[in-house]
Amino acid sequence: MKVISVVGARPNFIKIAPFIQAIKTYNGSSISEKIAHILVHTGQHYDDCMSRSFFKELNIPEADINMGVGSGTHAEQVGRTMIEFEKVIRWERPDWVVVVGDVNATCACSITAKKENVKLAHIEAGLRSGDMTMPEEINRLVTDRLSDLLFTPDEISNNNLRGEGVPENRIHFVGNIMIDTLEANREKASRLDSVQIIVKNLISENSQRSSINNQLLKRFALITVHRPSNVDDRPVLESIVDFLTDELVKELPLFWIIHPRTETKLKLLGLWDKVLNLDNLFILGPLAYHELLRLNMAANIMLTDSGGLQEECCVLGTPCLTLRWNTERPVTLREHGGTSVLVGNDVDQIRDAFREILLGKKVPVQPDLWDGRTADRIVKVIINAN
Ligand code: UD1
Repeated sequence: MKVISVVGARPNFIKIAPFIQAIKTYNGSSISEKIAHILVHTGQHYDDCMSRSFFKELNIPEADINMGVGSGTHAEQVGRTMIEFEKVIRWERPDWVVVVGDVNATCACSITAKKENVKLAHIEAGLRSGDMTMPEEINRLVTDRLSDLLFTPDEISNNNLRGEGVPENRIHFVGNIMIDTLEANREKASRLDSVQIIVKNLISENSQRSSINNQLLKRFALITVHRPSNVDDRPVLESIVDFLTDELVKELPLFWIIHPRTETKLKLLGLWDKVLNLDNLFILGPLAYHELLRLNMAANIMLTDSGGLQEECCVLGTPCLTLRWNTERPVTLREHGGTSVLVGNDVDQIRDAFREILLGKKVPVQPDLWDGRTADRIVKVIINAN
């Protein structure tokens, strides 16, 4: 059986690693039919720190094919990916295409696979934010509508799919594949030294290297923010920056892990100087997987608009302020037993939740089947469905 799996952007790499490992394990057993696996990288993320470093760290083999589509508008990225992926499909004629997550690569390759009559499996199916202004929601809807096998991380996702009329035999509740990666790397990450991680990743303009020590890391906050809804408009980004610089850093040290898109916007809007070299605010470049996992284990609070981090915070018990008005991952919310709370980008709401959360403790939560064995379940289903 021939399987092509597709990755494009950073969160995809973290999700594909355990799938590739599970195929390896399956092929190593005494079964007769092996899986011939081809890894395709669309090239949506291409910087070393956004792409190659994750392959190395997570033992993902070099992509068999890199389509090099790069950055651009959504139509440019999706269009270029479809054109290139069509050539790959026609040449390779796989039995299955496996896509993960909700990035442009996921959607573009799903459409292309189905137009070429190739069976499609989606890992992380059924997530819905209900927010059609998010490009990821459109990617999720299109991908799930086209998929033959839909691998879901939780019961809420199963119900979303049932509500949309997806036949029951296509839905497979397998758990959260990102947590496979977390569990496989938890021990290695816990051996890293947080001070060293920070010193190593402080951006070069930051001159506060000498003030980083264990005392500073007794209590600290982390922030990541990259969604267009938070970083593209001046009033929104400015109010978040004001809250961080005028209020939050007065309470505890803040480490801001900067996404390339956010750095560009801060510079463009003239806010970069304001966040540089401020007492208690430290700007870090994009972190390696183990480094972020280590810091998340130690952090007292996370502020983020990333989907994956909401899930990791849940499992690590880190209280999380989700800088969005909705989430496609409600299982991570406190009302569903998780650790995160939706605060949007309204500073009053962020402040209130921040003050309340500061008083709380870290309590790890493990939703059903977030047990580190999701990828094995997925491979079994694909083999049986072939
Ligand atoms: C993409 C995903 C988002 C995911 C995020 C994780 C979509 C629609 N969005 O958003 O769901 O949470 O990845 O990071 O697919 N850039 C670089 N180096 C790179 C890649 C990008 O500097 O290696 C810069 C470019 O200026 C680019 C910008 O970042 O224009 C945005 O990159 P893009 O891939 O378009 O979307 P992300 O915001 O990263």
